[in-house]
Amino acid sequence: MNVLLIGNGGRENALAWKLAQSSMLDELYVAPGNPGTMRHGRNVELDLKDATALRKFILEKKIRMVVVGPEAPLTDGLHDRIAEDPKLKGVTVIGPKAAGAKLEGSKEFAKEFMFRHNIPTAAFRAFGRGELAEAQQHIDRMEAPYVIKADGLAQGKGVVIAQTKDEAKEALKSMLGGKDPASERVLIEQHLKGIELSAFLITDGEHFKMLPSAKDYKRIGNGDTGPNTGGMGAVSPAPFADKDFLGKVHDRIAVPTVRGLRSDGIPFSGFLFMGLMSVGGEPYVIEYNVRLGDPEAQAILPRLRSDLMDLFEGIATGTLSERHVDTDDRTCATVVLASDGYPGAYEAGKPIVGLDLVRDALVFQSGTAMHGDELVTNGGRVLAVSAFGKDIEHAIINCYRNVSVVDFQGKYHRNDIGLDLLRKPAPKNGPAAPAEVK
Ligand code: AMP
Ligand code: GLY
Repeated sequence: MNVLLIGNGGRENALAWKLAQSSMLDELYVAPGNPGTMRHGRNVELDLKDATALRKFILEKKIRMVVVGPEAPLTDGLHDRIAEDPKLKGVTVIGPKAAGAKLEGSKEFAKEFMFRHNIPTAAFRAFGRGELAEAQQHIDRMEAPYVIKADGLAQGKGVVIAQTKDEAKEALKSMLGGKDPASERVLIEQHLKGIELSAFLITDGEHFKMLPSAKDYKRIGNGDTGPNTGGMGAVSPAPFADKDFLGKVHDRIAVPTVRGLRSDGIPFSGFLFMGLMSVGGEPYVIEYNVRLGDPEAQAILPRLRSDLMDLFEGIATGTLSERHVDTDDRTCATVVLASDGYPGAYEAGKPIVGLDLVRDALVFQSGTAMHGDELVTNGGRVLAVSAFGKDIEHAIINCYRNVSVVDFQGKYHRNDIGLDLLRKPAPKNGPAAPAEVK
């Protein structure tokens, strides 16, 4: 089967690497891809909004499956455009149509969905442009910390956790008073205190399979300090997500989510990422994403023993329930190497050396480019190193050993990925669930 993979990040490099291992794959095309995906398929330039060009490419290359890595093409209706094209009948898209992608594209929509289907999440109120005064009054009735979120896609920059009323009101003013379409509506949420983790499932809309869980590290600095990033590292599995906890995630979140999508008449195919908070051992949904996480994908796909193409074929034929998800028991640790300055301004074009010295680890590229035959940096997050260990400690040691041999000018990474998990914070001894949480 010929497959077109959409995206150019580390997640897509991991997807390309995994798909290329399948005996079911003939040709893999990646649009636009990066130098890392080039090792597993052919990178192509394609304007996804140009329906004619897309159709021509799919027909010419006999593409049977389009796998969408990032959320933007999905919220933008890529799946809808392919499904509505009579010439593209029989092409499966891994990733939901725009109606399903709204779970990620609109936080208010996601919240209403969760409340409608009784899925545990933080209480919230939403306010629109012109309701700044009401929103600020709402803050007066709450206690710190205040969670303020832009409704729309804001590339991880749409959430402010304010410690004071003044800070919260200022955030509301800049969001509701600004011009960014992502913050045309704003949510004020109850603050959940606990431990975060990412859970994933794959679904054909009817049935679903849970994928390995992971913990990601969003802040730029050691000890979870500094601004939020796309993600600076990940560990899979999240050790505190034991069988009991994952059972709750399955029963209270995954089952009602897939059932809810069905009963709301929202077809959904592909990955669903549940950003969770474990509050005293009880899972709450912070957000949904309609894709795999980055860098979580670089930690969970290496642990997936099953053939990913076989799972995708299960989606294509509505037979996912007959497929198996087989997981490697070992721990995988992933550390992102970034350009100094990220998530702010950084320099690009720095030669990357040492990849040939990597042993017993995987390197997935994201912000890289070829300069002649030289691999150079070309983004904030440059690459991710993923390594296995029989437990977290060994995975971390193996990973950092390999992180140390790869180099480029301005190389920056966190030194503490996974270290907090060695201290084994037991969620059961964590803070109690707030009484008024739905
Ligand atoms: P989001 O973009 O919704 O995932 O939010 C970004 C980050 O803000 C999350 O990863 C959490 O660390 C934090 N956050 C979001 N919502 C809440 C909440 N209701 N309570 C506590 N922390 C939150
Ligand atoms: N690592 C978080 C995300 O992909 O959204």
